[in-house]
Amino acid sequence: MKLNRILGLAAATSFVATLAIAGTSNMDFAKMYEKECQGCHGPIHQGGVGSDLRPKALKKKNAENLAATILHGRENTAMPAWSAKFSKDDAAGMVNWLMDWKNTVELKLDLEKVQQTWIKLADVDALAKKYPVDKNGNLKYKGGDVKNVKDITFATERDASLVDFIDSTTGKVLSRHKAGFAVHVTVTNKAEPRYAYSISRSGRLTMFDIGAPGQPAVASVQVGQESRGLAVSPDGKYVIAGNYNPGGAVLCDAHTLKPLKAYDTSRVIDPDGQIGPSRVAGIADTPYGPYFAVALKDAGHTYIIDYSKPDFPIVGDIPNIGKILHDCFLNENKGEDFGRYFQIASQGSDLMGIVDFKTKALAAKVHTGKKSKPHPGQGSSWFNKKLGKQLNATNSMNFGSVVIWESPGWNIVKKVKTAGGGLFVGTGEDTPWIWSDCVLGKPDKYNEVHLINKETLETDRIIKVGKAKGQLIDAKSGKVLQEWDATQYEKIPVNEVASKMSNEKLMPPVAEGKHGAKVKDPVQPRLLHAEPANHGKWTMISEWTTGRIGIYESETGKFIKYIENLTTPTFTYSVEHRQHVPGA
Ligand code: HEC
Repeated sequence: MKLNRILGLAAATSFVATLAIAGTSNMDFAKMYEKECQGCHGPIHQGGVGSDLRPKALKKKNAENLAATILHGRENTAMPAWSAKFSKDDAAGMVNWLMDWKNTVELKLDLEKVQQTWIKLADVDALAKKYPVDKNGNLKYKGGDVKNVKDITFATERDASLVDFIDSTTGKVLSRHKAGFAVHVTVTNKAEPRYAYSISRSGRLTMFDIGAPGQPAVASVQVGQESRGLAVSPDGKYVIAGNYNPGGAVLCDAHTLKPLKAYDTSRVIDPDGQIGPSRVAGIADTPYGPYFAVALKDAGHTYIIDYSKPDFPIVGDIPNIGKILHDCFLNENKGEDFGRYFQIASQGSDLMGIVDFKTKALAAKVHTGKKSKPHPGQGSSWFNKKLGKQLNATNSMNFGSVVIWESPGWNIVKKVKTAGGGLFVGTGEDTPWIWSDCVLGKPDKYNEVHLINKETLETDRIIKVGKAKGQLIDAKSGKVLQEWDATQYEKIPVNEVASKMSNEKLMPPVAEGKHGAKVKDPVQPRLLHAEPANHGKWTMISEWTTGRIGIYESETGKFIKYIENLTTPTFTYSVEHRQHVPGA
């Protein structure tokens, strides 16, 4: 069935603008935009990581300068140079096309139509009976893949559209599942840790039973065309996913994945008082109360949904947080305020908005610095003994700056310089550092991860992986503390197979330690996303460009080994670690 029909596409895209372009360019601008630009500039050009490219925003700008930006990129921002793909005429044509573009695609989220896309892939209850797992995640049958489901770490292989499950006590890849284009996030059900969920950018929500052998997918539903956020209620009853397109969120039963309610955001008021569609960005659950927080990216609001009440009403609507809301994390103050504050990045206003679940109002705006574009990823929240304060940190996308603030009080405590813009700051109980990537920095720097001391707030160590060797470096003296072989190897090809447990397709994992020939022209490793694993002993760092995940010792930063034969890994998620992190 065509998704457009299912989701009620109101009108087809207009071809008029494309035909009006002069010059010698043969580029299909709409297609190119969808493939290469939309991820940053938004499906309806309204901006996100990238700037607003709607005609109204571009009208006052010089077309030649805009074309030059496309060809050469823009220094110290995420805007890449496209001269390898665009000729001068292509760039000029693209600017014309953008300036004439009309939004004729109006999508509205419709619960009934989403419900029609629900698919059962395996019998959830039969699997639970045959392969019992207790509430603590211990497998109660012989021959399981792990002892406890919390030993499992998820990884996403972005460009291969795969979700992987890894035994994080050994680094062995257990299974690899087809779960929709560019899997974005995976989360677990904290009340029933055998159930896990993933959302792909292509709008596919999939539920897995990681307690059964082979971690089968058990159900899936198409919640939209472009999706990002995902959260599960701590009572284990509900899962909610957020869409960019059609704008809105879909709340489902966490045991069956059946959609129960749709929150349409196709007509909401934005910070300039205009009515229009808003994408849904960050979503979080909280241990603080029976709430989901849902951030409206373009409208600058956060909704608070109470899932304990009939029909799951919106019980709070906090406006004017900022422009272009993006990702979020919760504070981890010990005691009764644990998870009380929803900290949401506003990339259009360069701040973190602090929403209080208790008062259902804005508690503060933490300004992260001009053009800083905060992007916390999973974020970091820890107690600093020296200051006697709970601290929180985000990365900045445009330049290397980790911004640290206190909760409550909400004052900035420090900005720590790193080697370049980053996407993720991660920490855990068993590491003395917050680990910040520099993945949006220049290529000569995006192979570094900076380890910032949680007490002194200074960078102690740097992990730097070159084309042949990796190094752990003392940040102050520059001394190399450890060096390891980082030779890049070809992937061993495998063929898709059908699962025996579920109605899904799998890519078989390659046996540990096996790899193909040495890569002739190694690429610059691009490191991102540090995640504690193996009960805190290890930290996993994904390597986007080399197709492997590095395993490091959390206490020392020392390299241990690589998990190889993957395609563009961009994210890992340790079930055990996230059990203690609110809203994750
Ligand atoms: C990785 C993210 C990213 C991608 C992908 C991306 N851009 Fe950008 N783009 C940006 C950012 C960030 C800026 C804003 C830079 C700044 O702050 O000055 C920008 C700026 C621009 C501008 C200048 C806008 C202005 O108002 O000055 C144009 C034009 C543009 N992008 C076009 C494109 C096109 C066309 C593509 C696809 C071929 C593309 N971008 C892909 C991130 C991206």
